[in-house]
Amino acid sequence: MLHRADQDVAWWLEAAGGATRSDHAGAAVLELACGTGRLTHALAGAGLAVVGLDNDQVMLAAAAHRPRRTWPIFVAGDMRRFALHHRFALVFVGYNSLQLLTTPSEMTACLRLAREHLVPGGRVGVEVSDFQIGGADGPHNEPDAHDAPDAPDNQDNVGNPELLGDAEGIRLAGSLVHDLGARTSRYRRHFSGEGWTVADEIVVRSLDRPELEGLFRAAGLTGVKWWVDGATVRALAAP
Ligand SMILES: C[S@@+](CC[C@H](N)C(=O)[O-])C[C@H]1O[C@@H](n2cnc3c(N)ncnc32)[C@H](O)[C@@H]1O
Repeated sequence: MLHRADQDVAWWLEAAGGATRSDHAGAAVLELACGTGRLTHALAGAGLAVVGLDNDQVMLAAAAHRPRRTWPIFVAGDMRRFALHHRFALVFVGYNSLQLLTTPSEMTACLRLAREHLVPGGRVGVEVSDFQIGGADGPHNEPDAHDAPDAPDNQDNVGNPELLGDAEGIRLAGSLVHDLGARTSRYRRHFSGEGWTVADEIVVRSLDRPELEGLFRAAGLTGVKWWVDGATVRALAAP
């Protein structure tokens, strides 16, 4: 969660504003792909009954380890295929996490399930970003090309330790290699601290507002509230 300054918390709090604050009425908000519970805990701290779902046990363990009262509670599950008994006033996927599902059919499956878990009048919420604005196509047909010592010209540097700074002693450097046709980008990350470094690579699918509108339609949803800031879009959708 490096460099996320919790600027989204207020937005999700407002989005959940209509949700019940009573512990007795059951859970009011479901966060899919909740990670370490950055948002889940913030919403619970504001008095909301919140459930966080993630498919990574290590993330869930970190989330559950943070101080909490009755809420939030955390459940293990895959956002592409989950079934909970509760129905919620708000089901949301924050911080670009929907984009870890790299095909429209997987993203639609997730949004459809989110819709099916709503109480009448409930909303589905999403934050997505377009990582490819101004980007050039990368060497995606040559799997090893990105490991060449000379970075290709069409590799966007999205950060280095100087640009991204550090948080809690951890530095992040990264680069994106785009496949503009597939709308996917390989995000290569190097995390480092005192005497250690960890590198990994994830694939994210870019989404802009029209694409998100298309996914909403496919999932039986209609956008009812939009917030756009540069490449980032937040939306609430209703069935
Ligand atoms: C960037 S983190 C998001 C953290 C959190 N949403 C936040 O804003 O702080 C992405 C999370 O998505 C989770 N994730 C990825 N694929 C998933 C899936 N298919 N089902 C559930 N969680 C998934 C990962 O385990 C990871 O915890």
